Amino acid sequence: MQVRKVVIPVAGWGTRSLPATKNIPKEMLPVYKKPGVQYIVEEAMYSGLTDVVFVNNQNKKIIEDHFDYNWALEDLLERTGKTTLLEEVRSVAEMVNIISVRQKKQLGLGHAVFCAREIIKNEPFAVMLGDDLMFGREPGIKQLMDVAMSENMSVVGVMEVESDKVSSYGIIQGEEFAPGIFRVRSLIEKPKPAQAPSRLAVVGRYVLMPEVFTHLEGTEPGHGGEIQITDALLAMARKNRLLAVKMRGMRFDVGDWTDYLTANIYFALQDETLRDELTRKLKGLLSCPS
Ligand code: UTP
Repeated sequence: MQVRKVVIPVAGWGTRSLPATKNIPKEMLPVYKKPGVQYIVEEAMYSGLTDVVFVNNQNKKIIEDHFDYNWALEDLLERTGKTTLLEEVRSVAEMVNIISVRQKKQLGLGHAVFCAREIIKNEPFAVMLGDDLMFGREPGIKQLMDVAMSENMSVVGVMEVESDKVSSYGIIQGEEFAPGIFRVRSLIEKPKPAQAPSRLAVVGRYVLMPEVFTHLEGTEPGHGGEIQITDALLAMARKNRLLAVKMRGMRFDVGDWTDYLTANIYFALQDETLRDELTRKLKGLLSCPS
C-alpha cells in the first residue's frame, strides 16, 4: 500500500520562541523567504505525498491560509505585471491537498497525531513535525517511506546527537540489520547522558502503520503531563514492529534560536544575488569586538 497522507502537527504554543510567537505561529516564522512550514510541505510533495493533514488550533489558521489562493494579492500582481512573483505565490496553493483537524487542547505530540485518526483511517501515513526542517539530496521523509513500504513496518527517523544533547530527545536502543537501518528494541524519552542506550535521537519524521492509533488510545500522559508519541512507539518496538532509519542530510529545529538563525543564513547563502554581500557583512560582524 502506498503512503499518500502526511500529518503535520502545528498546534503547539511555541513557548521557546516567545515573544516572536505571541501572535505569529512558530511554523510561520520566515526562514529566508518562506515560512518554515512551506519547506516541510515541499519535502512532502517532492516525496510523492499528496494529502497534508494539519493538526491545528484555533489561533493558527494563517498556516492553512498560506497554502490557499490569495485572490486580491494575485489580482494585484497580475495587473502590475509581476508574473514571477504571481507564479511563486500561486504555486504554494497548488502543491498538495490541505485537510485540517483541530487539537482542542495541547496535550502533546502523541495526542496531536491521534486527532488525525478519522482522516487517516486504515492506511500507513507519514508524520512530519511542523518545526523540524530537513535538507539533503534526497527528501527526508522519502528515506523513511521506502523502508516502511519494503518492510511493511513503522519507521522513525533518527540522527546522531552529541551526548550532552541526548536529554532533549527520545533515544533508541536497537541493532543495525542493514546499513543505516535499525530494529528498535527500546526507546527512552529524554534520558540523562549516563542512562542513554545510544546517541541515536528520534527526529521529526515518522512513517506509521495505523496500529499506532490503538497504542495511542491507551496512552496515559507521561513526561511533562503530555501524551507522548514515544510511549506508542515503545509499545510497537516491544512487539518487534518498529524500525529506525539514520537520516542523511541537514536538520534545523525552528524552535531553537541558534538553529533557526543558522537556517536563515544557510538559505540566504544559496541565493547568488545575496551571497557575496552577506558573506562580507557576516565576516565584518565576526571580526567586530562584541
Ligand atoms: P514542540 O514541542 O517542538 O513545539 O512540538 P511546541 O510545544 O509548539 O513548542 P515549545 O516547546 O513550547 O517551544 C513539535 C511540533 O508539534 C506540534 C508543534 O506545533 C510543533 O510543530 N505540537 C506540539 C502540536 O501540534 N500539539 C501539541 O500538543 C504539541
